[in-house]
Amino acid sequence: MCGIVGFIGKHQAAPILLEGLSKLEYRGYDSAGIAVRDGSNKAEVVKAVGRLKNLEEKTDNGQSVVGCCGIGHTRWATHGSPSQINAHPHVSGNCTGSASGTVESEVVGVHNGIIENYQELKEKLLKNGYQFYSDTDTEVVIKLVDYYYKKYKVGPIDALAKTMVRVRGSYALEVMFADYPDEIYVARKDSPMIIGTSGDETFVASDVPAILSHTRNVYYIGNNEMARLMAGKVEFYDLNGDIIEKELVEIKFSAEAAERGGFEHFMMKEIHEQPTAIKNTIGSLVSDKAIDLSKIELDDETIKNISNITIVACGSAWHVGMASQYVFEELSGIPVRVELASEFRYRGPILDKNTLVIVISQSGETADTLAALREAKERGVKTLAIVNVVGSSIAREADYVLYTLAGPEISVATTKAYSCQLVVTYLLALQFAFVRGKLEQKDYENYISEIERIPECIQKILDDKERIQWFASKIANSKDIFFIGRGIDYAIGLEGSLKMKEISYIHSEAYAAGELKHGTISLIEDGTLVIGILCQDNLYEKTISNMVECKSRGAFLMGLAPYGRYEIEDTADFVTYVPKMDKHFIGSLAVIPLQLLGYYVSVARGLDVDKPRNLAKSVTVE
Ligand code: F6R
Repeated sequence: MCGIVGFIGKHQAAPILLEGLSKLEYRGYDSAGIAVRDGSNKAEVVKAVGRLKNLEEKTDNGQSVVGCCGIGHTRWATHGSPSQINAHPHVSGNCTGSASGTVESEVVGVHNGIIENYQELKEKLLKNGYQFYSDTDTEVVIKLVDYYYKKYKVGPIDALAKTMVRVRGSYALEVMFADYPDEIYVARKDSPMIIGTSGDETFVASDVPAILSHTRNVYYIGNNEMARLMAGKVEFYDLNGDIIEKELVEIKFSAEAAERGGFEHFMMKEIHEQPTAIKNTIGSLVSDKAIDLSKIELDDETIKNISNITIVACGSAWHVGMASQYVFEELSGIPVRVELASEFRYRGPILDKNTLVIVISQSGETADTLAALREAKERGVKTLAIVNVVGSSIAREADYVLYTLAGPEISVATTKAYSCQLVVTYLLALQFAFVRGKLEQKDYENYISEIERIPECIQKILDDKERIQWFASKIANSKDIFFIGRGIDYAIGLEGSLKMKEISYIHSEAYAAGELKHGTISLIEDGTLVIGILCQDNLYEKTISNMVECKSRGAFLMGLAPYGRYEIEDTADFVTYVPKMDKHFIGSLAVIPLQLLGYYVSVARGLDVDKPRNLAKSVTVE
């Protein structure tokens, strides 16, 4: 988590840094800070606790801080509480109080990630006369750079390389040296960072939206690499300090795509982007009624040899795995296991040489998922990643990568990335089934046509969203909500429940409907809301019975079913319908009313939909 930005060029840096930080606030929002040089040897540091607007106010929207070279940071606390003293930037010198103002230090820097051995490094620096003013691991790493810079009397790149060798953990590190007032230096390992150029200006940021209004031309800096940024010019270095060449990549999506586009919240905008995002994702893999995996070089022989699949992910991406296991198993006949990345990485999983490990991640930077991917690779099995962020760590390290074309997802609660991930798993399952001889050509093509209907069906649900809005206002004061269903419906309930709890702060749980009787039903009392998902035809009667059991204990029932199942109105107090679709893929439709419900309940409760408390968009620490 945390977002970093940097700018060097002819314009004043502070307003550009603040604008960039405003696009990265989703990465952390407990404090923010900037450091700017005006060509002299001193940097001006300003920090503020809380939302970015506090820093904007403090700097008169950047007008009060003068200089054309600067760095900035928006923080999500890991080491040290959210406070001004712990806010970035940090400095190599000794300072007291707020650690703001004009600083004499040689090194000033910001960091995203976690330095695992910071205590050990801190002790070493204490022995060498350094004093610490904050509780952060970042202050330690900034002082370590200063230590090597001075001890070995080397240049910034060598000082950074020596630091990188000593540091364990993840970082996107951005520093300025007093001796090099017109330059910024960066180093990266396992935390996202991109560098952009436009004419005689250079930008650096954790993520593309932060610089998109200035340039579309970016470099992806790799793991264990460093860069020297000058106005309009960048040099890249490896750990040996040797210059390396990088390719400039053009970002295809527009600056507006990263903005709210007229919606009140990013989440609603992203919910509405689903038809297009899914269409684009399908389009990247399907042409003329055939799925083409040749781009990722996943050949038929490899597909035929897969003995089992393990899907590993976190949060909503794990829910995608939960839903897709039914599709993979039923269509392709390959046994599937779905694992939480945080569990998988530590439990010594048993994988045979023909296991395919599929990791799913929007950001491509989730620490546990990345670690799980590396664990799988170490065990010598093939790995396939379904990722949204191009050039992210997971995308770079997996053997095969399929991209979801969801575009930038800003709202902390995922919607469009989740939906695109789901569709990619359908296509994979179908292709595996076809290559392994489990599907006739005609059935294969029919299934593809069915998947191609998903965007228009989602659009129909979105066109009728006011019904959900009305229901949300009725249930916004619920204390507990239970989502029940069987099979894929259960997996969709998991996602509906997470959407509800993470943005509305209402306690909610998802249960396999048949499990309720084994304990949880004791929680049902007068007025408890139970949402039954009934989109799997063969399981409809079973789930209805479970809903009736809840009703007879006082529950208030919402039903979610395909059009045509109107008899559900005899049981449920409120019903919402989705278009009919093949049972394997209808989950893509069922999830939409649940996303809308979570959204509208959050709005009705007056909460910060896009930035729910205690959460950050990309969880780059375990
Ligand atoms: C919930 C949500 C999270 C993410 C999870 C994994 O709305 O967005 O549960 O799904 O943190 O993130 P990625 O997909 O970036 O690995």
